[in-house]
Amino acid sequence: MKLPSSKFFLFLLIYFSANDILKAQNVIIPVETKHNAMVLLANPNKDLGTIYMGRKLADRIDYEQISSAFKQTVDYTGILNAAYTPSGSRNLLEPAITVTHADGNNSLDLKYVSHEVKRIDDNVSLLSIYLKDPVYSFNVTLFYKSYYKEDVIEQWSAIKHNEKGNVVMHKYASANLHLSGSAYYLNQYYGDWAKEMQAEESKLTHGIKTLDSKLGTRANLFQPPVFMVSIDKPATEDDGTILFGALEYSGNFRTDLEVDYQDNLKIISGINNHASPYTLKPNEEFVTPVFLYTLSTQGKGKASRSLHDWARKYKLLDGTGNRLTLLNNWEATYFDFNEQKLAGLLKDTKKLGVDLFLLDDGWFANKYPRNGDVAGLGDWQENKQKLPNGISSLVKEAQNNEVKFGIWIEPEMVNPKSELYEKHPDWVIKQPKREEHYFRNQLVLDLTNSEVQDFVYDVVDKLFIKNPELAYIKWDCNAVIYNAHSVTLKNQSHFYIEYVRGLYKVLERIRSKYPKVPMMLCSGGGGRVDYAALQYFTEFWPSDNTDPLERIFMQWEYSYFYPAISSSNHVTDWGKQPIKFRTDVAMMGKLGFDIVVDHLKENDLRYCQDAIKNYNSLKSIIWKGDQYRLSHPKESSVASMLYINEEKTSGVIFNYLVNNRYGMGSNRPIKLKGLDAGKKYKIQEINLYPETKSSINSDKTYTGDFLMKVGFNPDVNSGRTSVILKIETLN
Ligand code: DGJ
Repeated sequence: MKLPSSKFFLFLLIYFSANDILKAQNVIIPVETKHNAMVLLANPNKDLGTIYMGRKLADRIDYEQISSAFKQTVDYTGILNAAYTPSGSRNLLEPAITVTHADGNNSLDLKYVSHEVKRIDDNVSLLSIYLKDPVYSFNVTLFYKSYYKEDVIEQWSAIKHNEKGNVVMHKYASANLHLSGSAYYLNQYYGDWAKEMQAEESKLTHGIKTLDSKLGTRANLFQPPVFMVSIDKPATEDDGTILFGALEYSGNFRTDLEVDYQDNLKIISGINNHASPYTLKPNEEFVTPVFLYTLSTQGKGKASRSLHDWARKYKLLDGTGNRLTLLNNWEATYFDFNEQKLAGLLKDTKKLGVDLFLLDDGWFANKYPRNGDVAGLGDWQENKQKLPNGISSLVKEAQNNEVKFGIWIEPEMVNPKSELYEKHPDWVIKQPKREEHYFRNQLVLDLTNSEVQDFVYDVVDKLFIKNPELAYIKWDCNAVIYNAHSVTLKNQSHFYIEYVRGLYKVLERIRSKYPKVPMMLCSGGGGRVDYAALQYFTEFWPSDNTDPLERIFMQWEYSYFYPAISSSNHVTDWGKQPIKFRTDVAMMGKLGFDIVVDHLKENDLRYCQDAIKNYNSLKSIIWKGDQYRLSHPKESSVASMLYINEEKTSGVIFNYLVNNRYGMGSNRPIKLKGLDAGKKYKIQEINLYPETKSSINSDKTYTGDFLMKVGFNPDVNSGRTSVILKIETLN
């Protein structure tokens, strides 16, 4: 790939400045990536609007003609396509920002003043556009960070004023997009515990559709912040124009999608303003979270691969690094374990062949021992009965078994039945005069309070100080926020925002001391993953539902937005499928086990050990290669997914039967994607269960052209419900 040269960027700078001078009337600001352009225009009236979002034009001069190509009905406001819609002046539709000024006035107008482009490196540029109210001393800077090669744009705003008193902001969005198409189809997600990432698609009609969360923590349990919008027609895997969007934020979010009377689509996304009017002091800068999007004119597959590349390179912690396979004891023991049992599990970790043993919930608290989910949360001292020799002896025992050791924590939470609650009732989020209301018998600690931030930081820090060899943290979060109130916070309307700020402060501190230690972002399932949190975590837990059949669907949807390296997939006893099926499905991400190894039949164990070896040889392709969805589990009785390395020389294809009705299977070949048409490939079945033979002839060779046009039949049927194929070029 040839990146734009420095001369090109110099040209841009000159172009912009020249443009400003020559056309003092119209300022055109294109934000271009490899394939696309988002073009803004400040008109003679200094209103800044979006005039184009789509495939980039060969000649930048042509962007000027875009507006004249449209013959839309009258815009009564002059700011229908505003790049950041103010309210209380001319606006008639959903605003991006609404304020009450220091003098009590509710109107805002924002005029273009200037802009600049900073080249961060060969691939990344940052455009800032400065807007100002002509009447009030109130300004907004819009930021557009573009990732050229990945076709990704991150957008956010910084809001500031210098009025004679405080300004109250009622809405303060991160981004305000404006798209033009003949129709729009929204693909959104909903969920609940064990039912995360359920997809549904609908045509957007005139008016507003809002995606939001008001849960405080584990914000995306009911509705994740990720979404897709197809333009003109519903996009498919490889065809159609589609935008993938998400707010990078771990708290309450709100995304409004409004089809206006001119049939354009406005997308306004930011922190949810629900119960959160924000009082902004003079000269205080309010920086919104980042809204992220990628546009693809080649369907969902391309959009998802762009996001994966971007996430691994720029967002996900250690995104291009390594990960540890593991054995977790949660479903093997729940709260019922002791040193002796754990010693056995450490041996099993080694026997299985994974890298690390992960000790889950139940290892702490003495006055109110953590023997169930009703007590002990918050008291992070080793339980003396279960672990008389402490965590450090387990870490040593792990070393004796030549495996690493990791541990579960849920540091933001407290059981009312705990010493922490007794000592610090003021650290708990609750309404002083109301009855407490629990989620999984627990309450959330008040992270708006700096003392609580120190406490949460210390939970992690002390574990590492006492056990420097600790190699992994599973950070859980099982409650939402009820009765949002802090005893120490002056302005309760800032509560939800300050909670998230507090959380990030803690994570920031942890990462500055322990930059790379792997941490899993868990939330009684996948109620929390987002790209702001993933800057601090190496992986996330998609769902407690590990039934492999369910997981095929769930992982499929997650995979549009998050790369496989970030998805912790564990083999458990959920579901009716055999161990091979369960392990194969878990291999499509970061593999772990949560089973009683001792209970495995001999062949099951042998199978797992071999599969782990295969996984170790393939994991870099799964984690870092390109992902192609070949056959959708909702559209066919066979789900098929391919991962291939950048050189297109080596890959792996996962195939599953997802419909158990009579005669279902791969009755025709499945077309492969992402191969080199001119190369010759061999295909071999791997992950075979002991004493079974493959029906695939691995001696045959095929051209990439053949495999992509005619396809390959993995021979999936009721006797072969899970088929893993290794594909390689001939040397
Ligand atoms: C919820 C998580 O999703 C589980 O994996 C487990 O860690 C439990 N919490 C422990 O309480």
